[in-house]
Amino acid sequence: MSQVSKPDRLRQPEARSATAPLIEVHNASRTFKLGSEMVYAVRNVNLNIYRRSFVTLVGRSGSGKTTLLNLLAGLDHPSEGQVMFNGRDIADFNESDMIQMRRNRIGVVFQSFALLPLLSAYENVELPLRIAGVAARERTRRTEEVLDMVGLSRRAKHRPYELSGGEQQRISIARAVAIQPDIILADEPTGELDSVNASNIFGLFQQMSRERDMTIVATTHDRTLLDLADEIYEISDGVLTQRAGVGRDPETMFRRPV
Ligand SMILES: Nc1ncnc2c1ncn2[C@@H]1O[C@H](COP(=O)(O)OP(=O)(O)OP(=O)(O)O)[C@@H](O)[C@H]1O
Ligand SMILES: [Mg+2]
Repeated sequence: MSQVSKPDRLRQPEARSATAPLIEVHNASRTFKLGSEMVYAVRNVNLNIYRRSFVTLVGRSGSGKTTLLNLLAGLDHPSEGQVMFNGRDIADFNESDMIQMRRNRIGVVFQSFALLPLLSAYENVELPLRIAGVAARERTRRTEEVLDMVGLSRRAKHRPYELSGGEQQRISIARAVAIQPDIILADEPTGELDSVNASNIFGLFQQMSRERDMTIVATTHDRTLLDLADEIYEISDGVLTQRAGVGRDPETMFRRPV
């Protein structure tokens, strides 16, 4: 079981409706100054991410996907506007809120995988569970379960350099799933995968959102994967537009059978 020594302030306010968005983005922009030029990586974005939804974000290279995901994860802050997590502005989070959020609430799958090179695949998945204080037996159970989910039980002892790019990518997904976060933010999680593995991973995300109450936001270039998502957003030059929202109504989402 996950042991959090202090009360988890990120679950507050208690009375917050289960249908309220988990993440709200209000008029957020992120600019970078390059010499005398101002680059708008994200421009005036408004977005609600509802609990238990599977949201995809498509866009060409350089359109702002990673920048937006970093804002949602609290890894970066908007130059203008706000990002709220569970009703609180992330800008107001203190250090311990941030630590708690990263350990327990948000699982990030980085575009570059960010695996630790000296640890085995198994150890890479298990480490965040150790940090979160999960007991040994439960750590083993979860680590074995998620490695099996991504089809890599037989590669558990391999170090990252002994794995293919797609296998490393699947380990980084397993690592994010293992902590059983409220939300997984996955940046191009299928970028290195063949079409079968890519649709398996998106199928896994769909299953996680429906059966385990997780919220998933995944970016992709691959339009063939979009059908599995509840909501599809497109980003172009930092501007976000909604393309489809199958299960968009939060009431419907909440009542979805589990
Ligand atoms: N730290 C930075 N400094 C300056 N410009 C940046 C920085 N980070 C991103 N940008 C610019 O912001 C824009 C969006 O970048 P971002 O990485 O979000 O795109 P992306 O959609 O994730 O692209 P890709 O599909 O190639 O990963 C790009 O034009 C990029 O050059
Ligand atoms: Mg990117």
